[in-house]
Amino acid sequence: MGTAIRARLQARGDTVVSADLHDADVIADVTVVAECERMVAETLALHGNLDILVCAAGVWVEGPTWQTTEDEWDRTIDVNLKGAFFSCRYAIPHLMATEGCAVLISSDYGLVGGPGAAVYNASKFGVNGITRSLALELAPHGVRVNSVCPADVDTPMLAGQARDYGNGDPQGYLAKLRATLPQAERSRFIRPDEIAALVAFLTSDEATPITGACIPIEWGVTAGY
Ligand SMILES: NC(=O)c1ccc[n+]([C@@H]2O[C@H](COP(=O)([O-])OP(=O)(O)OC[C@H]3O[C@@H](n4cnc5c(N)ncnc54)[C@H](O)[C@@H]3O)[C@@H](O)[C@H]2O)c1
Repeated sequence: MGTAIRARLQARGDTVVSADLHDADVIADVTVVAECERMVAETLALHGNLDILVCAAGVWVEGPTWQTTEDEWDRTIDVNLKGAFFSCRYAIPHLMATEGCAVLISSDYGLVGGPGAAVYNASKFGVNGITRSLALELAPHGVRVNSVCPADVDTPMLAGQARDYGNGDPQGYLAKLRATLPQAERSRFIRPDEIAALVAFLTSDEATPITGACIPIEWGVTAGY
């Protein structure tokens, strides 16, 4: 998703600095607070200011709660929640300077529960909590904060679910999903560029009135039943 967001924002003329554990402009582990600080500092050193922060790092962990280990809890919370929080924490002073904005990539599981996903749910509900809290805290400074809450997006993260639920066949997993999605056969895996388009909109001047929004992009699956 990060790759698609980068391409979309670059295409409209933004200067983008990517950060990841590997293969990025800035190598950083967002579970380490000092690395979040360095990631922001290196970005500023490269380009002088910061208008937009997008937090897209994440891990998917699932399984029966009664088998969950402390390591699984720590890894999920540390990447998805702590990483997003401390990325914001160090970016905020610079976003205040530019009256910029942040978009946190949350999940449909930040809006509704999922069986076997209690830890992931905790992390993504937390991301949406941060989104709403920061939107209010930073509104007087002209900084907007929103989140994007996708269902299954066709990225490497999805490959694990396709393996586990579709006997290795992504189409098998898709068939299972369609059985539960309101739009049934009309639905499909969401494309990363569709997430990128929403991020591009949320970080554009057209989205100036939008802050504190946790926007589903999930075929309506969180709308009700
Ligand atoms: N793919 C989906 O179906 C889906 C659905 C809903 C939400 N999401 C969320 O979207 C975001 C992007 O996921 P994706 O589908 O692109 O997954 P992905 O696995 O393709 O990419 C996640 C990226 O996060 C990076 N990362 C992991 N731990 C890190 C760390 N400690 N420090 C820095 N970077 C780290 C990985 O190296 C990887 O490049 C995640 O937050 C994920 O939870 C994904």
